[in-house]
Amino acid sequence: MIPTNTFALLPLAAMALSALSAQPVSARIGGGALQHGLRSGKKAHLPVMEPVKRSSSDKTKRKVKKRKTSCVARPNNATASLTASSTSATTSTALGNEWGVNTESSSTWQATSTSSSAPAATSTASSNYNSEWKLTENWSGNSFFDHWSFWSWDDPTHGTVKYVDAGTAWNEGLISINSKGNAIMKVDTTEHVSGGRKSVRIHGNLVYTGGLVLMDALHMPHGCGTWPAWWSNGPNWPYGGEIDILEGVNAFSQNQISLHTGSGCKMVESETEQQGKLTTGSFDQFNCASYETSNQGCGVRDTYHSDGYGEGYNAVGGGVVAMKWDAEGIKIWWFNRNSIPADITAEQPMPSTWGTPVADFPSTDCDPYKYFYDHFNIFDTTFCGDWAGADNVWNYAGYAGQDQSCAAMTGYATCSDYVLNKGSAFNDAYWEVAYVKYFNSTTAL
Ligand SMILES: *[C@@H]1O[C@H](CO)[C@@H](O)[C@H](O)[C@H]1NC(C)=O
Ligand SMILES: *[C@@H]1O[C@H](CO)[C@@H](O)[C@H](O)[C@H]1NC(C)=O
Ligand SMILES: *[C@@H]1O[C@H](CO)[C@@H](O)[C@H](O)[C@H]1NC(C)=O
Repeated sequence: MIPTNTFALLPLAAMALSALSAQPVSARIGGGALQHGLRSGKKAHLPVMEPVKRSSSDKTKRKVKKRKTSCVARPNNATASLTASSTSATTSTALGNEWGVNTESSSTWQATSTSSSAPAATSTASSNYNSEWKLTENWSGNSFFDHWSFWSWDDPTHGTVKYVDAGTAWNEGLISINSKGNAIMKVDTTEHVSGGRKSVRIHGNLVYTGGLVLMDALHMPHGCGTWPAWWSNGPNWPYGGEIDILEGVNAFSQNQISLHTGSGCKMVESETEQQGKLTTGSFDQFNCASYETSNQGCGVRDTYHSDGYGEGYNAVGGGVVAMKWDAEGIKIWWFNRNSIPADITAEQPMPSTWGTPVADFPSTDCDPYKYFYDHFNIFDTTFCGDWAGADNVWNYAGYAGQDQSCAAMTGYATCSDYVLNKGSAFNDAYWEVAYVKYFNSTTAL
């Protein structure tokens, strides 16, 4: 009965991340699916934010757009890979320009690197793990927020939230860099607010098709009313795919990892080797297609770790979440603060030595480059909305981590009423992020 993720989609026009800086037209597509989701009691629909420059007639159609020629081309063979690799710095900048991505941030990052040498800095590492993954983006410290665009429009998942722009977030203290150099993303804790509670949703300025992304957070939001996530999304939702890497709602104690795709991507349970539990809600196939599963997609609940989400996560000082997306498929690992592999700390990741992942979405019945492409990663903290605030979720007792319902725990009949009137309950609803690192490979992709 646990509704799986209902996550937001943002069908960015391919190669138009710059659209984020313009006011998008809000549109809701698939109201029928919403009603279906609610009727089935499983999950609500994810409405879609439309990119700019669409006619209103386009907005009402759920058009299956042909995949555009990939901007982040994968090499056809090793020779091409090597060439791409040897010019990775310029490739990155060129991609940034081509994509309209803020290239200032890349130069900021390069400028804040400890030396002018290549970022991977393997020559100075104390050990050499012969990793096939090379660090190409290191978002951390004072320049952390330079690598993101701030989403300051309506929440596509209908949260009781007001996402603010970067200026507001800095001015009102919702984002900051703490004395340890970690990035803080908080929510407004004013006791009574109207309309929505202020928070941030940020979109990473790197577009990637395949790769290894590591995220180290010491703390994440949790508690009744909250719905935090670290995830990635592609264009033309759901055709570019969505990968929900760290996500949950309310007082849940288990991470819910989910994929959302176009039609045709399936998981073969017998072929997955993972610690979590593969689930597609009440659907009898492990189908990742959003439109065929009332937007549930295919999910894996981390039933294995007690510290993979929320209170348990924070109690151990968080740790590192790793998402590897390559020719094998998509795998996600979780390492708490006390078990971070030395190769990760050395920035020479060796996924082959990390053991069984929490979630394994093999390529067997789901081509990882057909159903997923051109992703960017996202942090957000929303409240209530389609998942945390759904009546059947707010009132339900018995989820892992929630012996009592949030209605009973808070004394509020609705999620929104609680969120709007109990700001002091959200002091703990913050992210403390040490870094997001992107590694690329000339052999694994
Ligand atoms: C590999 O790529 C290189 C560079 O694009 C090309 O010259 C070569 O013909 C390719 N080899 C094969 C086997 O496709
Ligand atoms: C990445 O950033 C972290 C934190 O600022 C820093 O310790 C590390 O040296 C950086 N790595 C590289 C290769 O610059
Ligand atoms: C990763 O490397 C491949 C070549 O191996 C390249 O085509 C691709 O653009 C790179 N991706 C990023 C995000 O730099």
